[in-house]
Amino acid sequence: MFSNKIVAVTGAAGGIGLGIAKMFSENGATVALSDLKAPTSEAEALGAKAYSCDVGNEDSVKAFIDAANADLGQIDIYISNAGVGFGDGPNGEVAGGDNQSWETSWQVNVMGSVYAARALVPQWIERGQGGRFVITASAAGLLSQIGSASYTVTKHAAVGLAESIAIAHRKDGIFANCICPQYVRSNMTKGQKFAEESKDGYLEPSDVAAALKASIVNDDFLVLSHPVVGDYFKGKAMDYNRYIHGMVKLKSKINPQDLPL
Ligand SMILES: NC(=O)c1ccc[n+]([C@@H]2O[C@H](COP(=O)([O-])OP(=O)(O)OC[C@H]3O[C@@H](n4cnc5c(N)ncnc54)[C@H](O)[C@@H]3O)[C@@H](O)[C@H]2O)c1
Repeated sequence: MFSNKIVAVTGAAGGIGLGIAKMFSENGATVALSDLKAPTSEAEALGAKAYSCDVGNEDSVKAFIDAANADLGQIDIYISNAGVGFGDGPNGEVAGGDNQSWETSWQVNVMGSVYAARALVPQWIERGQGGRFVITASAAGLLSQIGSASYTVTKHAAVGLAESIAIAHRKDGIFANCICPQYVRSNMTKGQKFAEESKDGYLEPSDVAAALKASIVNDDFLVLSHPVVGDYFKGKAMDYNRYIHGMVKLKSKINPQDLPL
C-alpha cells in the first residue's frame, strides 16, 4: 500500500516508532529510522536505513532529512515520534519540575516537529506532489497527564502544531495526522503498573501502527488507537467543568508513587 513511498521516523529505536516503521516497511515503503543513537540492528531487520538524530537540535534534524533525501529519495511521509516525559515536583507541585525538564520537553515534544516541518514543507510544496506529516502526541495532548504538567503542556502544543499543518497546507496536498494513544508497551511505560493495568487497555506498538494506517486510509486527522480517548475528548468539549471535576476525582484515587511519569 505504501510502495514507492519514502518514510522517515524519529525515536524509532523501539516502542511506537519502531512499530510504525515496521508497519510501513511491511506495506512496501522504504524506511529511514532515526534515534539519538542510530538504530542500526533494528533498521537492518527491516531492510531500512539507520541515522542518528537529536530532534531537539535543528541542525541534527536538518542533517537527518537531507541524508535520507539523498540516500533514499525525497521523504514522502515524516513521523515525528521522538518524545520525552518528566514528572511534576517532588511533592506533586504542578510547576515543580526543574527548568531542564521543561526545556527538554519543549525541545523534543514540540520543536523537534517544528524543525522538521520547517525543512520539509517547503520541499513538498516545491516538488508539487504533497506529503504527509505525522506527529505522535498523546491522549495527554487532548486530555491531561496526571502527574506531569510538562508532558501535558507540550503534548497539547504538539496537537496544536499538527492541527496547524493540517489546516494551512491541505491546499498544497500536505496531510497531517496526530497520534493520541493512552498507554502503549514501550520503554517509556515499562514496569509501570499504572500503565500496564490501565482499564482502557495497554496496547502494543503494532496496534498504534495499525490505527495510523486506518486513519491514513480513512483520511482521519486523529489517530485514536484507544477509541475511548475520542469519547473522553468529546465529553471534555461538551462540559469542561465536568471533565475537570472527573479528573480531580480520578487523581484523588491515585497513589502518587504509581504515577507513570
Ligand atoms: N508509551 C505510551 O504509553 C505513550 C502514550 C502516548 C504517547 N506516547 C508517545 O509516543 C512516542 C514514542 O514513545 P514510546 O512510548 O515508544 O517510548 P520509547 O521510549 O520507546 O520511545 C521514545 C524514543 O524517543 C527517543 N528520543 C528521546 N529524546 C530524543 C531526542 N532528543 N532525539 C531523538 N530521539 C529521542 C528515545 O531514544 C526513544 O527511542 C513519544 O512521543 C511518547 O510521548 C507514548
